[in-house]
Amino acid sequence: MNVYCVEQQVQSCKATTPDVLGPYYFPRPPHRRQICDRDPAFKNERHLLVEGRILDESCQPISGTRIEVWQADHDGHYLFKENCRGYFYAEKGGHYAFLTLHPGTYSTDPKKELFRPAHIHFRVQKPGYNILVTQMYFAGDPNLGRNDSCTECSSDRSDLIVEPRQMCADKTGQFCFRIAHFDIVLKRGNEVSVVPDVDDSEPELDDIVETGK
Ligand SMILES: [Fe+2]
Repeated sequence: MNVYCVEQQVQSCKATTPDVLGPYYFPRPPHRRQICDRDPAFKNERHLLVEGRILDESCQPISGTRIEVWQADHDGHYLFKENCRGYFYAEKGGHYAFLTLHPGTYSTDPKKELFRPAHIHFRVQKPGYNILVTQMYFAGDPNLGRNDSCTECSSDRSDLIVEPRQMCADKTGQFCFRIAHFDIVLKRGNEVSVVPDVDDSEPELDDIVETGK
C-alpha cells in the first residue's frame, strides 16, 4: 500500500503587539456595537467603521471572541461608563465590526504640551488564548511614536496603525464614512491578563439605546 504524505502549508500570523491598558479602562461596559453615539458630534461627523478578523497564529479565525473597546470622544474626552465604550463578540470567520467616531487626541500634562495620538483601546478575550490588551492608531497622526506622550505605549508599531479609507454612498459627499481594517492575532495560552480581576457579581451596564430605557 502506498502512503502519500500531503504536506500542509501552515500560514503564519504574528501575534498582535500588546499595549498599555491606560487609566480609563472601566470593566463591565455595555453590550453594543455602536459606540460614541451619545456624543453630540455623532450626528454631524463622519462615522468610522472599524472592522477586521480575530485570528490565531496559524491565521485561523477565532469566532466567539469577546472584544471590548473604549476610546475618547470626538473632542478627546473620556466619558466614563456609558459613552464611547462597549463589548461584543466576533462572529463566524472571526469577523467583527463596530461603528464609532474618530477619537479625539488629548493632552496628558497640565501645560498641554504633550499629546497622545488618536487611538482606540481593545481588550480581546477567548478561553484558550492569552487576553490581549492593545490600542489601534491612525496613520499620519503627528503624535505617533517618539511624539507620543505615553513613552511606554506601542504607537510606533506598524501592526497597530491603520489607514482608514473613505467610502461614500453617492457623489454628493453627504453619505460618507471611513472604514478602518484592523486584524487581531491572539496567542494561545492560559488567559494571562494584565487587567486586574473584576467583580463579576455586578451586572454589565445596561445599554440605554438597545434596551429602550
Ligand atoms: Fe486612551
